[in-house]
Amino acid sequence: MIPEEKVREVAERISIVEVVSEYVALRRAGGNFLGLCPFHGEKTPSFNVNPAREIFHCFGCGSGGNAFSFIMKIEGISFPEAVKHLAKKSGIEIEERQLTPNEKKNQDEHTQFLRINDLTTSYYRSILLNGQEGEPARQYLAKRSVESPISDAYRLGFAPDRRDGLVKHLKNNGADLDSALKLGIVRKSETGWYDLFRNRLIFPIRDSRGQVIAFAGRVLDAALPKYINSPESPLYHKSSVLFGLDMALPSIRIGNSVIIVEGYFDHLALYRAGVLNVVATCGTALTGIHSSMIKRHAEKVYTLFDSDNAGKKATIRSMELFLEQRIPAYVISLPPGDDPDSFLAMHPAEEFDTLRVKARPAFEYFVRSVLAETPPDSVDSKVRIIDEIVPRFRKIVDSVERDLYEKEICRLLGITVHALRKRMGGGKLSGNEDVEGKNTSIQPGDNVQDILMALLLNYPEARAEITNTGLESMFANDYLELARLVLANLTDFNSSQRLSQLAEVIEKPELKTLFSRIMVSDNYLANVEWRTVFDQCSRSNEKKKVASIKEIAAQLAVLDPGSDEYSRLLMQADTLRTRKSKL
Ligand code: CTP
Ligand code: MN
Repeated sequence: MIPEEKVREVAERISIVEVVSEYVALRRAGGNFLGLCPFHGEKTPSFNVNPAREIFHCFGCGSGGNAFSFIMKIEGISFPEAVKHLAKKSGIEIEERQLTPNEKKNQDEHTQFLRINDLTTSYYRSILLNGQEGEPARQYLAKRSVESPISDAYRLGFAPDRRDGLVKHLKNNGADLDSALKLGIVRKSETGWYDLFRNRLIFPIRDSRGQVIAFAGRVLDAALPKYINSPESPLYHKSSVLFGLDMALPSIRIGNSVIIVEGYFDHLALYRAGVLNVVATCGTALTGIHSSMIKRHAEKVYTLFDSDNAGKKATIRSMELFLEQRIPAYVISLPPGDDPDSFLAMHPAEEFDTLRVKARPAFEYFVRSVLAETPPDSVDSKVRIIDEIVPRFRKIVDSVERDLYEKEICRLLGITVHALRKRMGGGKLSGNEDVEGKNTSIQPGDNVQDILMALLLNYPEARAEITNTGLESMFANDYLELARLVLANLTDFNSSQRLSQLAEVIEKPELKTLFSRIMVSDNYLANVEWRTVFDQCSRSNEKKKVASIKEIAAQLAVLDPGSDEYSRLLMQADTLRTRKSKL
């Protein structure tokens, strides 16, 4: 653990402009420095570094944060590693502090867990490799053409058809069975301890550093369930593990792209064919944690899921995650009925590469599959298609990309861009999506939430005022979430603390983006009277609410006066009217 004071000392010693300058050529532009973003390809600079705020932000790809975030991202390292890296540069020595007794206990238990998993891996492995008991598994692997180098690379094993083989092995090696119980690989009943896996081929599941954190066991025949997996444990959280990441990292770094598959054997088949930048989810749908892990390591992702309905659904669901996180995503399509294993059994690796080159952008794949399901042959079906597409369309961040898809959708549906935009609710997309806008500073009157957020960050008095007025009435969506986070963390940020420190506590990428964008573009607020600006914002908010009375009236006209919705809207209109009369 690096003591917090040390982290702050490093933060104070370094200058973000110097740190970034080692990687990016910067030139001064007003209060900011400007350069070409190192995190996405661009020809005109939209990467801003604000020395006063100690924050960087790219208006092109939305990445942002403080100097530590920058180093983490560009070097692909963790927060403590980034702190150490910068400490070294500025000549600060870091002594890691002593662990507290509780931390020590956790660390010891962690070591014990890892030891148990190592013992378990080598036990299953020796059963597979030696002796009569492993014969069925050896035959099975031979049948699937898994030869020893591959079996070695995955450290495959075999759980024998015994009640307590692993239990005995762990006991003989002095391992604590209660710890093994916490990992779920052994269990306890009235008649004693017994193994979780029996008569199954074992895939050890490793983390990105190659440490075994769980196991999956496949039957050797057609029995069900096909796989049994280690349960969630202190070491294993399947929603944040990508199988094979440790094997894939070197290749991911070289090509900056990653292929995601759904199964252990899919992973194995690709690895055997020399396709190394592959990870698999462990029997679960792709999560936001997975996609942010992927974002940390690669600039581009391919999904390679089964061509059946479940696979299609998984593809579209993952597309939404990637759109949200702004990771360019492509879909590799296999011939119907094939999975990577069966495809590579019949075709050389070069043919797989051809499929990869032909991969289509995930959004295009999505539009095509919606159209395949609902042919656009009537007004009604076109409306349904648009309603299906629009929520995802909104998530496309890149404006050029969005323009292209807009045209493409209109062409496919035979409608005008105007009609599409109208259906989407006016020409502008939803509130907070001006992130990709190329203007590098927000102007007063531009977006009230931006201004209020800047006030919240910069003026402690405004902080109190905004809290009193009620966050919910001033902010919505991401802004509201960020405002809550800021307030929660600013309570222990006394005035001497730096705002850029907030970059370390904001985890969600979209909130990080919002935060850094505002921090690099609030110069115009430097010399204002916060109260004047705050009052302007409040009035503008009130006016907007009043304008919506008209909309409510329009909705009321078509509703059944007896319905709940009707009375709810009526009440809302009344509240708004009262406010209006006070203006
Ligand atoms: N899976 C699981 N539990 C099951 C079935 C599947 O956890 N009962 C997960 C496993 O991670 C598996 C993935 O879903 O790898 C994909 O399932 P499937 O395609 O059936 O398995 P494969 O690993 O491709 O195995 P095989 O090629 O032997 O069919
Ligand atoms: Mn499969």
